[in-house]
Amino acid sequence: MVAVADFDASGGLVPRARDLSDLNTFALVSQASAYVQLRSAGDLPRLAELATRYESLLVLGGGSNVVLPSAIGGLVAHVALRGVRLVGEDEESRIVEAAAGESWHDFVTQCVARGWDGLENLALIPGTVGAAPVQNIGAYGVELCDRFAGLTAYDLHSRRWVDMEAAECAFAYRDSIFKHEPGRWVITAVRMRLPKRWQPVLEYPDLRRYPGLAAAPTARDIFGAVCEIRRSKLPDPATLGNAGSFFKNPVVPANRYEALQARFPGLVGYPHGGDAYKLAAGWLIDRCGWKGRRMGPVGVHERQALVLVNYGGASADDVLTLAAAVRSDVGERYGVELEIEPVVVAAPRR
Ligand code: EPU
Repeated sequence: MVAVADFDASGGLVPRARDLSDLNTFALVSQASAYVQLRSAGDLPRLAELATRYESLLVLGGGSNVVLPSAIGGLVAHVALRGVRLVGEDEESRIVEAAAGESWHDFVTQCVARGWDGLENLALIPGTVGAAPVQNIGAYGVELCDRFAGLTAYDLHSRRWVDMEAAECAFAYRDSIFKHEPGRWVITAVRMRLPKRWQPVLEYPDLRRYPGLAAAPTARDIFGAVCEIRRSKLPDPATLGNAGSFFKNPVVPANRYEALQARFPGLVGYPHGGDAYKLAAGWLIDRCGWKGRRMGPVGVHERQALVLVNYGGASADDVLTLAAAVRSDVGERYGVELEIEPVVVAAPRR
């Protein structure tokens, strides 16, 4: 990679044009006219100043949960802050902090290797540490918010550094305050609380069924199992562009779930909170016949219907056209509305 200066002589950030296809896991072709990389905390106040000159700001981490338009007119800030450290410890737990630009999976791998257990169920999730709180990543029975200790962010509105606790982040299923106010905060570091009296989390059906995890598994065993399960059904973005689950699993009231189950006996759903059920959207899409189907350069993955994939050269329009067709079929057949999970970045106003 050619090192084009991101900084001028005074240390100011200098935006430049950049193709973002290697910075989003969907591998969508997307041309940014003003791109900067943030490499140190000192860049944040400069970013706040620079952002006032643009109509929008997109903060990009690993690009694993976004659908980027073909052209981006606003400012794009790519977070590349690095570092992992132990910042607190008592009898109960360790607090481990990772900088926002670290790869999430590398962070999990490092923790498990050091015996800092608790994140193993979240292995192999693509993306960066800084993006993890945005959608409150979750897999195999654990969500980020279950282990979250706090984060540091720069508030571009007040131009102040803030430390935020879980309650302030408003975490919910694949949701947080950061999804609702995009462009306000730049998350620079995330802290996780890892219990010293670790207990395995094995409720998720795929893990319960996994051979070898029945008797006293270690965090390393679970880490290995999660990696293997994910590799067996989810496409690797390095070889087939995708943004993980493209739809959220819809949450419906219990009576609606029962009515659906009576009509569609194989329906997959799990209790969610008091009087609600989370339906497996992958099952609904699969039963509508979409699994493995292609539409131009995009398609529905052949092993996991919840994942849309880019076979090469796709644009956001291709992806959103396919998503609309899938949503329409699921809506018609099951009366259930699917919500898109990744952040769809708006195309510039013409
Ligand atoms: N199913 C089908 N056909 C499919 C896909 C799934 O019938 O094509 C059925 C499965 O047989 C299973 C059920 O649907 O009974 C659930 O499937 P799976 O265990 O694969 O999980 P999921 O609900 O589809 C969610 C998360 C994943 C996460 C897994 C494991 C969401 C939107 N997705 O998928 O997260 O890895 O559980 O915890 O909540 C992501 O967010 O990007 C992601 C991959």
